Amino acid sequence: MFGRVCKEDTIVEGGMRLVIANSHVIILAWPDNGVIKAFQGVCPHTNTPLAEADFDGAVLTCPSHSWTWDAMTGEPIHPKECWLAEYPVKVDGGIIYIDTEGVSPLFAPR
Ligand code: FES
Repeated sequence: MFGRVCKEDTIVEGGMRLVIANSHVIILAWPDNGVIKAFQGVCPHTNTPLAEADFDGAVLTCPSHSWTWDAMTGEPIHPKECWLAEYPVKVDGGIIYIDTEGVSPLFAPR
């Protein structure tokens, strides 16, 4: 079930922010020329929050060891270790909603 997360105008194209939805830490990222996406907000490497992640409008970079992901898809770029889990997201009436049901963060094998 979709739950209200925040207003659409709290994020801009090319930007990102961390939100909490139903106890899930989630990154909202709005890639350039794309739509708002919602991915796990913890790094698949060590489960640390991606609050300080770098986002250039296309690529998300973890500040700890610089793993990177495509913000359109969550696909790992370097290393090719682990995808970011993606949450269904919708925007309606200027409000962003996320459905967390059945989605769990992914982690690289140790
Ligand atoms: S904790 Fe994110 S790359 Fe290591």
